[in-house]
Amino acid sequence: MQTLTISKPDDFHLHLRDGAAMANIINYSAAQFSRAIVMPNLNPPITTVDMAMSYYNRILNSVNKKYNFEPLMTLYLTDNTRPSEIDIVVQTEPIKALKYYPVGTTTNSDYGVTDIKKVYLVLESMMKNQLPLLIHGEVSDTDVNVFDREKVFIEKVLSPLVDDFCELKIVFEHISTKAAVDFVLNANSNIAATITPQHILLNRDDLFNESFQPHNYCLPVLKEEHDRLAVLGAATSGNPKFFLGTDSAPHGRTKKESGCGCAGIFSAYNALGDYAEIFEKQNKLDKLEPFTSFHGADFYGLKRNDEKITLTKKEKKIPEELPFDNDKLVPFRAGGNCAWQAKR
Ligand code: DOR
Ligand code: ZN
Repeated sequence: MQTLTISKPDDFHLHLRDGAAMANIINYSAAQFSRAIVMPNLNPPITTVDMAMSYYNRILNSVNKKYNFEPLMTLYLTDNTRPSEIDIVVQTEPIKALKYYPVGTTTNSDYGVTDIKKVYLVLESMMKNQLPLLIHGEVSDTDVNVFDREKVFIEKVLSPLVDDFCELKIVFEHISTKAAVDFVLNANSNIAATITPQHILLNRDDLFNESFQPHNYCLPVLKEEHDRLAVLGAATSGNPKFFLGTDSAPHGRTKKESGCGCAGIFSAYNALGDYAEIFEKQNKLDKLEPFTSFHGADFYGLKRNDEKITLTKKEKKIPEELPFDNDKLVPFRAGGNCAWQAKR
């Protein structure tokens, strides 16, 4: 049986939710990842250092003690975030970044930034302190086609932002288009991107296989095949600007299968297996460890993990559903098989 032992990876984009739902899912991540950048889009969002630290403690309390899992916290940027909050963030070890949701773009983005110019003083302070800005890179304008929202964001918001703050560290999250890949490749070394397994494995046709597939619905929405191939190429290229971020975003089955289904794919269940399968198919297994375990840590200025994990080429059946608070959770690739899995 083929095995591969690598430094234990980090997940640089993860939604853990809270309470009983978090307790149901967190150990799938803790088993596979040493650390995770935890998204702040709870309701209400995590907008202050105090809120982030109390969320940090709730996370640690729900992790199985056999794992050395370290949550890396983020604050939710709003029009009202004060530059003085950044001074406290910088002194608070567990908080590593701020997340910018343009208002109205995704789950719990109602408190998001209405105009990036409103937070320029905050960005100034972040840049001085080398604190990364994590970006949900889509516009919410209803006159922009949903499949073009990432591309238009690059043109209207991201390019000018990078020109104005060329030393600001930016992570363009869950990139989904060739336009985003090209932008990151051509940008300076302060710009990096996370890549999810779902944006590598699926294209927009996978939303409509025979019938509508709500469990493949996420934001940014899946794009065309040429976009998928560009994202796949970036992930497996060995370029340090690209690193692992699952954007695993659990929603209960009833919320996904309702008349206005929530966006989000629970990809944490066998994420490392998914990435290993992807890299092996491309004959790029030698590039897996840098993508999963080095590039992100290096970008964030974190020490690479000492702990190791072994991946096995052994077919893993993905369950149809998992427990999730008082509902059920349908994992990514439910009912299917993945060729690889991490040893648990
Ligand atoms: O599909 C998504 N789900 N995209 C996001 O940006 C947010 C996430 C969530 O929190 O459910
Ligand atoms: Zn996300």
